[in-house]
Amino acid sequence: MCRLLIFAQHMEKAIIGTDIAHAAALLQQGELVAIPTETVYGLAGNGLDPEAIAKIYAAKGRPSHNPLILHIAGIDQVEKLASEFPLAAQKLAERFWPGPLTLVLPRKPHIPNAATGGLVSVGLRVPAHPLTLELLKSLDFPLAAPSANQSNRISPVTAQHVYDQLADRIPYILDGGQCQKGIESTIVSFAGVVPRLLRLGSVSEESIREIVPNLEVGVESEEILAPGMMKKHYSPKTELILPDSPFSMVASNMIKVGLICFNGSDRDVSNFDYVWDLSPTGDLEEAAHRLYAVMHEMDAMGLAFVLVDYLPETGIGKSINDRFRRAAAK
Ligand code: TXA
Ligand code: MG
Repeated sequence: MCRLLIFAQHMEKAIIGTDIAHAAALLQQGELVAIPTETVYGLAGNGLDPEAIAKIYAAKGRPSHNPLILHIAGIDQVEKLASEFPLAAQKLAERFWPGPLTLVLPRKPHIPNAATGGLVSVGLRVPAHPLTLELLKSLDFPLAAPSANQSNRISPVTAQHVYDQLADRIPYILDGGQCQKGIESTIVSFAGVVPRLLRLGSVSEESIREIVPNLEVGVESEEILAPGMMKKHYSPKTELILPDSPFSMVASNMIKVGLICFNGSDRDVSNFDYVWDLSPTGDLEEAAHRLYAVMHEMDAMGLAFVLVDYLPETGIGKSINDRFRRAAAK
């Protein structure tokens, strides 16, 4: 028997708008909608419907073992989805939700395996964007939503970025303006023996540690606990060169090169065709807010390569440096 793998190709291009009721109706019908959050745009579908989840993986070209975050309207929704909610996790939720923190908790059995990549845990987050919170409140299911980029590409922080990557694959993009935080949520897992930071993100490691002093960092085994921790991720098309990567710069008028820096640069900026200072005033929040928008802009320019200056390795500077390392990884 010949089996056809049907990929939902929409005849018409995605519509960009702010109609929450329309977005809700599409989601109730099992369709996908791109949603704004304070971190990055998400590609959302009904998190309890395996068919909607399958559409998310197909639209992104994402491997199905990589689990999705379920977005919920409030902390009161946790008990419907998680079988345990440890006190330390509750404290984090009370401190940071709605906001850019994902909690990985032991899951309840009715969540489709498709959403969790077959794991016994589930990632939950209450996003802090008014349109998406209103949308979530109007639905009686959580929204599974990975970042709304094609797998391994740069996450979108505007509706236009989503459109550029997914316009042929989804019917609607809910436009909430440019994402305020600009990099993904911080992920903390309570699925193991000790709380574990799985992904650096918009909430700094230090501020998690204030509430969870016994926090451990990184994956405990070779097993992929959060593919966002994988070495190569968040990849621009342009080659990025880090301060500590071995290279020799050849001066040439034949190629165009760029520089991404922060709070000015010690380099001679006249050597570069394009210079992006993520925050001339040295503001880490501003740098995170601009990071992916700059990378999208850079990718549209066809530069031979872009040099990167690291940011201070503190607060979310650490999360931004983490994104640079993954974006530069071969
Ligand atoms: O800020 C964000 O978190 C954005 C917005 C849309 O909410 N979402 C996002 O989703 O970045 P995504 O799929 O691009 O990254 C989610 C990460 C993945 O690396 C996934 O492996 C990890 O979360 N993850 C999800 N559920 C998990 C679980 N149960 N255990 C371990 N890691 C999990
Ligand atoms: Mg992603």
